[in-house]
Amino acid sequence: MSEGQSSIALGYLNIRTIQNLVVLMIKKRLFRFLSFSYYPVFVKPFSTMKFFLSLIALLVYSHLFSKAHSQKKNTASPYAEKGYLTFDLKPMGSQVRPLILRTFVPTLGLPQNDVLQNHSKGQSSPKYSPSSGREATNQYQPIDGIPAAIAVNLGKPLSYVWDTTECRLLYAWTDGFLDMKNYWGDRESGRRKGFGYVPRLYGFVFYKALGKHPLSIDGKSISDLGAPKYVGYSTGSDRLPVYEYETGSSKISIKIQPGSSTQTLRLDFSSKNKEVLEFSSPNTQVEVKSKTAGKLSIVIRPNAGERFSPEEKKEIINEPTQEIGEKLYTSLGCIACHSLDGGKNHGPSLKGSFGSKREFLSAPSLVVNEDYIRESIENPMAKTVKGYLTGMMPPYKLEQAEYDSLILFIKSIR
Ligand code: HEC
Repeated sequence: MSEGQSSIALGYLNIRTIQNLVVLMIKKRLFRFLSFSYYPVFVKPFSTMKFFLSLIALLVYSHLFSKAHSQKKNTASPYAEKGYLTFDLKPMGSQVRPLILRTFVPTLGLPQNDVLQNHSKGQSSPKYSPSSGREATNQYQPIDGIPAAIAVNLGKPLSYVWDTTECRLLYAWTDGFLDMKNYWGDRESGRRKGFGYVPRLYGFVFYKALGKHPLSIDGKSISDLGAPKYVGYSTGSDRLPVYEYETGSSKISIKIQPGSSTQTLRLDFSSKNKEVLEFSSPNTQVEVKSKTAGKLSIVIRPNAGERFSPEEKKEIINEPTQEIGEKLYTSLGCIACHSLDGGKNHGPSLKGSFGSKREFLSAPSLVVNEDYIRESIENPMAKTVKGYLTGMMPPYKLEQAEYDSLILFIKSIR
């Protein structure tokens, strides 16, 4: 295999050298010709002929060589056969075989002040030119991405990003992972983009970090202990990564896995020094599973509802329908909290809700209509149904036709 590599490298060098040489010769000739001091062009046309003939010969030779070179490239390398290399720009893992990537990730508008407090603030970077392989120093744009994060995919039910600078979970989503095209480049062009090369997230984001570091040690938030130091991660027999970091004089490890219901996350923290660990974060529902000295296991629930399309263009719904509403009910995860059969869950059942009377914690009661449903989805904090928790339902920013489809679907659940 090293033989193949070196001969490719040699071939590449040859073509490049020859082509550069040819360009150089043309330039030199042209220059001397333009300087009018080059009489032999007119006096001895034969030598000019010879010059151009040799030029053509060289070009043909280099063309043949590059052909041979590209043929060599197309024969499958042992790496590709064994699956070490992938051209899959939307790679996915699974529950039994998690995919772990260390990569730039999108910021998704996470607040810089508290969530990303240890990241440098939006520095401009020179534009990278894929054709020259150098940086074009006269063009600057800030990178809208978080470097050195760890993105993990366990198949459709869960993807998440854990940040090695902040040493915390940044966000989690379902139904997709990362589209690496901007970062890795594709098979045709084989080169990443100049600007905007951060991979694109696709799927449904149900959880986002908010506020300062959610973990506190003996009553002190990690945010107040100075920048944490990432140590590394290890994987156990279940292949799930366990991240380890240091903060103050403590050594913390955290394991992230899907909770027992959809769109929930189970987090297991442990501390070498056996301090008291606590988790709290604004707008985050936390259910403590177990808590002992130096250990904390919790399940956290959705607090966000943003969808990102894997395609460049968003799928346009021309006309809202009940069927589209039913699909959204599943794909947006409403299913995790709202039953269709009258059973009580985190949220009220959708069965027979349309046209029935509602009472709220601090708002006058009303009869469920289209406007109320729309408001409940877009801004659930506006009114809280009696008997349920405020802030449990994440807000969903959707297209008009999507709200209308959901309303049609909810109206149909009698
Ligand atoms: C994490 C759980 C959760 C998810 C996910 C969720 N909801 Fe809710 N939803 C609630 C809770 C809790 C309430 C009641 C408290 C309130 O009014 O804020 C509620 C209230 C509602 C109401 C008002 C219900 C009534 O009977 O008055 C509607 C309508 C609604 N949700 C629709 C949706 C739709 C549509 C989706 C998906 C796009 C969704 N919800 C996703 C938890 C959730």
